[in-house]
Amino acid sequence: MKLRTATLDDVDMLNYWDTKEHVIRTSGHEERDWVEEISNDADWLEVLIAEHDGEPIGVLQIVDPLREETHYWGQCEPNLRAMDIWIGEEKNLGVGFGTQMMTLALAKCFADENVTAVLLDPLVDNPDAIRFYERLGFKRVERRMFGVDDCYVYRLDRDDWQRLFHP
Ligand SMILES: CC(C)(COP(=O)(O)OP(=O)(O)OC[C@H]1O[C@@H](n2cnc3c(N)ncnc32)[C@H](O)[C@@H]1OP(=O)(O)O)[C@@H](O)C(=O)NCCC(=O)NCCS
Repeated sequence: MKLRTATLDDVDMLNYWDTKEHVIRTSGHEERDWVEEISNDADWLEVLIAEHDGEPIGVLQIVDPLREETHYWGQCEPNLRAMDIWIGEEKNLGVGFGTQMMTLALAKCFADENVTAVLLDPLVDNPDAIRFYERLGFKRVERRMFGVDDCYVYRLDRDDWQRLFHP
């Protein structure tokens, strides 16, 4: 498994993945424009494609929630990262790819020594993702409305990441 930066060549695939039932059901109501996101060279946003054996299988978005321009996360501390993750094809769900993607993405986030914690915001009615995040060590810190989306906020602090991923 490797993570690489998304390019405009990935837009058709990402738009196709966005039509998948498991993606629609779990994404909430936030609009996504892949051309805009991938063209955005701001240092508070990364769109990463996960490749397994050279085949793209999923996508991760990582933002600095304080500096992200829509202020989706509202007031928050500096030096956090917030993530979103999807697997594209149904056949690639539940075979361990998400765990490998998150392991690489967390290492990438915490490689910046200033980063203190990583946040996630699954919909409260996405029990599969919630179980997935809790198994990785994320702790539920809040239930919160993001626009019309009822979400839990999950957090993994650097100390817990260190303990769980580099014991
Ligand atoms: C959430 C998501 C990213 C997790 O990725 P994933 O690749 O399915 O996750 P994993 O396979 O690593 O783990 C999920 C399950 O597979 C099981 N699993 C892990 N490795 C496995 C393996 N090698 N073989 C079989 N099963 C495995 C895990 O035990 C886990 O089981 P559980 O759901 O019963 O607890 C993915 O399911 C997804 O894209 N969902 C739709 C979008 C979504 O909800 N995104 C999150 C928005 S907040």
